[in-house]
Formats: sequence, structure tokens, C-alpha cells
Amino acid sequence: MIETEYVILKEAYSLGTDVQAIKDFYTEWADTYDTDLLLAIGYAGAEIAAEALCKHVSDTALILDAGCGTGLVGIELIKRKFDLTIDGIDLTPVMLEHSRKKGAYRKLNEADLFEPLREHEDDVYEGIVCVGVFSKGHVGPHGLDELVRIAKPGAPIVLTVLEDAFEDGGFKEKIEQLEAEGLAKLLDVTLSPYYPKQEISCQLVVLEVA
Ligand SMILES: C[S@@+](CC[C@H](N)C(=O)[O-])C[C@H]1O[C@@H](n2cnc3c(N)ncnc32)[C@H](O)[C@@H]1O
Repeated sequence: MIETEYVILKEAYSLGTDVQAIKDFYTEWADTYDTDLLLAIGYAGAEIAAEALCKHVSDTALILDAGCGTGLVGIELIKRKFDLTIDGIDLTPVMLEHSRKKGAYRKLNEADLFEPLREHEDDVYEGIVCVGVFSKGHVGPHGLDELVRIAKPGAPIVLTVLEDAFEDGGFKEKIEQLEAEGLAKLLDVTLSPYYPKQEISCQLVVLEVA
């Protein structure tokens, strides 16, 4: 058990791009992730992203939750649109096991967003959500390319990026590049509470795939 919420957050955002370190960190945290995040830390990420995605998809859309973790986003999506079909992918098997127990997902698979998503064909998903994954210490902006590839034309991609990583981490630039290449359009970017108790905000980004 990791002691304080501050230690957890600091550790989470200092993992760099070492995939094994990220996997080890979430393997250790998985069992207490939901209660630590929702009760001790105070987490709004899953709710704000689900709310944003649901404004842009039909009631029966096929959704990918990329970096689904323990399934908090799946629960928030199903609360808003019960007939969605939701697949989830994540790097950490133990986190996926927790998602499985939530019962909100159709398929759950291990995948690394640093790498090409070879199991996934082009133009499949009618909406993609990715919360708490594109950030400092996790997946960089290049991970967006694969999400754009596997989303259907016209599909929304909703992501959260911690406020201080949005420009410094190259996400703003990457989105501008996707727009310039005609691959996606930025529909909205809003500074939103992410860990409200800690006064930490994120940029809530809504893209539309071309
Ligand atoms: C902060 S958690 C967010 C989980 C969930 N989206 C939520 O909002 O509760 C970050 C998740 O990203 C996953 N992750 C980190 N790096 C990844 C990568 N390269 N590929 C896929 N998943 C990754 C971790 O295993 C972890 O479950």
C-alpha cells in the first residue's frame, strides 16, 4: 500500500517512458486504485471525459477506452448511455482484471499505446476516450496517431492531458499537426478540474477524426 495521495501522484508522473516501470507501478496500485483516487485524492477525470464523449456519440456507438485502467471511465459512460458497446485496452493486466469485474466492457485486451495497435483495424471505433494516459510520465503525443487510425471518420476522440503537459509535452503541437495534415479537427479544448481537491487541472480535448 502506497502511503499518501501526494506520493502516489508524484510517483505516477515521474515514471518517464519506461514501460516496465509504468506496468510495475500500476500492478502495485491496482487493488486500491479506485478508493485512493475517488476517495482520498478526489478524481474528476473519468466523469468529465465520459460526459464530453457522450455529447458526440449515438446511444449505441462502439467505443474504445484506451488505457482503461480499472474501468472507471467505462462505468461513467454506461451511467450516461446504457447501450454503448465499450472495448478497453491497457498496458497493465491487473488493471484490466479490475475493469473486467466492473462488467461495463465487451472486450478487454492488453496493448501498449507506445506501439502500433496491430490487433486493431483502421476505421473501427465510433468514439475513443483516453483519460490519464497522455501525460507527463506516460504516453507521449505520437500515441495519438494510432487512435486516429482506428477511429471511424467523423468519430470523436476525447482525451485528458494534465494542464502543464499540454504545451510542454508537445500535445498542442501534435494536435495542430493532425489538423494541418487533414487527419483530425479540434472541436474543443477546455481547462477542467481533474484532481479538484489537489487543485490540479487538465485540458479536456475533443478531436473529430477526418
Ligand atoms: C492514471 S491511469 C488511468 C486509468 C483510467 N483511464 C482512469 O481514468 O481511471 C493510467 C492507465 O494507463 C495505463 N497505461 C500507461 N501507459 C500505457 C501504455 N503505454 N499503453 C497502454 N496503457 C498504458 C496504465 O496501465 C493505467 O492503467
